[in-house]
Formats: sequence, C-alpha cells, structure tokens
Amino acid sequence: MRDALGSVQSVLVLGGASDIALATVRALVADRTRTVVLAARDPDALAGRVEELRAAGAETVETVPFDADDLDAQEETIGGVFERHGDVDLVLVAFGVLGDQERSLEDPDFASGVLRTNFLAAAWAMLVAARRLRAQGHGALVVLSSVAGERARRSNFVYGASKAGLDAFAQGLGDELAGDGVHVMVVRPGMVRTKMTAGLDDVPFTTTPDAVAGEIVKGLRRGAHTVWAPPVLRLVMAGLRHLPRPVFRRLDV
Ligand SMILES: NC(=O)c1ccc[n+]([C@@H]2O[C@H](COP(=O)([O-])OP(=O)(O)OC[C@H]3O[C@@H](n4cnc5c(N)ncnc54)[C@H](OP(=O)(O)O)[C@@H]3O)[C@@H](O)[C@H]2O)c1
Repeated sequence: MRDALGSVQSVLVLGGASDIALATVRALVADRTRTVVLAARDPDALAGRVEELRAAGAETVETVPFDADDLDAQEETIGGVFERHGDVDLVLVAFGVLGDQERSLEDPDFASGVLRTNFLAAAWAMLVAARRLRAQGHGALVVLSSVAGERARRSNFVYGASKAGLDAFAQGLGDELAGDGVHVMVVRPGMVRTKMTAGLDDVPFTTTPDAVAGEIVKGLRRGAHTVWAPPVLRLVMAGLRHLPRPVFRRLDV
C-alpha cells in the first residue's frame, strides 16, 4: 500500500536490467520505496545494482529469474512475488527489444521474435499482473510503450507495430481496470540513451533514463494515464500523426 504521503512502497520490475527501469527504481527509492524486486533474464548480473539500491535506502531488494518469452512461467514468477511480499504497489513492464528492421524484413522468424517479446509477452505479463493487482484491490501497472507506436515509420515499423499493439492493449486494460482500484499508466518515451540505442545517433528530443524516470514518478503522483518523455513529444507526435501520407513519405524517418 502507498505510504501516507502517496509514495509507492513496493515495486516489481519485469525487465529489471533495463536502463530506464533501473533509473525509475532509483528515483522511486529516493522517494521512499522500500521493497524492490528486479525480474530479469540474468539476475546475477544485477548484484552491483542491488547493492546500490540498498545503499540508497531500499530495505528489501530481490532479484528473480524472468524470461518474458516463456509465457507459461510468467504466472509462477509474478504470482510468486505477490505471494512472498503480500502487497505490490507498482508493477513496471520494462522489457523490450529494438530488433533490426532490415533483418526482420528478410527473416520472418526474427520479426516474429520482436513482435512476440514486445507485444505478446508484454501483454501477457500485464494480464498476469493485472489479475494480482485486481485481487489485492489497489496498485499501478506501468508499461513502457514508445512514440514509435504512435505513427509507424518505414525505418522502424516492426518495432513500432509491436509498441502500437502494446499501447492499445494497455489503454484498453486501463479502462477495464479503472473501477477496481488499479491504475494503468502508458509511458511513451522518444529516443533514450540506453543499452538499446547504444551506437545510434541522437534524434531531436533524445533524452536520458533519469529524465524518463522523473516523468514516470511525476505521472504516478498525479494518476496520469499517459506520460510522454520528454512531455513536448505529445505535441510533436500529435502533429506527426496527422501529417498527410504523401508528406509523411517525404520525411527521412
Ligand atoms: N531506449 C529507447 O530509446 C526507448 C524509447 C522508447 C521506449 N523504450 C522502451 O523502454 C523499455 C526499456 O528499454 P531500455 O531503453 O531501458 O533498454 P535496455 O536497457 O536495453 O532494456 C531492455 C531490457 O529488456 C530486457 N529483455 C529483452 N527481452 C527480454 C525477455 N524476453 N525477457 C526478459 N527481459 C527481456 C533486456 O534484458 P537483458 O538485459 O537480459 O538483455 C533489457 O534489460 C523497452 O520496452 C523499450 O522498448 C525504449
């Protein structure tokens, strides 16, 4: 349960090695979150992060093995965290892959892997977490979508389509859960400097994991259903979304 000042006390991160997720957890711990569970494919690699979070004030920091693509294992992993900790205020769905668009166009299995992880596995994780949050009667479910899902770009439409699907799913789930005390928040970052984008050139409005984390914490406080990071992207994408297709096709995107 959130504390008397409205701060999240416990968080489960699915995709616990994500740079954006770790920045968000650091911001939450600075805002009095005391229990952190990082679910990741290689939990041992997170030992240093666990120590940092403890040093920053988290009382309980746990890592659990989690491969999102193993849909059958999600119930046991996510359910196990709720059972061990009794109460989880926030589930952050942070895993995702960028994928290589050129390879996706040549290799349907590869494209299918991107769609599976970013859409199917993330939607499944949201459903599993939503059932637990609904049963406990409170909590927030935050999902990392992307501006890439707002209007598909030819250079990145496999990833964009996976995020568009996830974004729509999360919005619908949020409407479904609105009366049950469960708050769903969709986060749409632009380009963020993380492992995922290492080696890529910055684009306009490129931001940092800490800046995205700050927007997530602010969004949780005000009960936002959608968060753009940076916020100006809401206006930029509103314009881009409605550009006539012949004009959009002339853009180098
Ligand atoms: N960076 C950006 O520009 C940007 C912009 C908009 C949205 N996003 C979204 O933000 C989220 C976090 O990305 P990030 O930028 O923080 O990149 P990141 O540091 O590369 O984090 C992505 C994480 O997803 C994990 N992951 C991938 N497939 C998984 C699977 N099957 N099971 C479990 N974990 C899996 C990776 O695990 P490993 O460490 O094991 O590889 C990695 O830690 C993603 O959903 C991404 O699409 C990112």
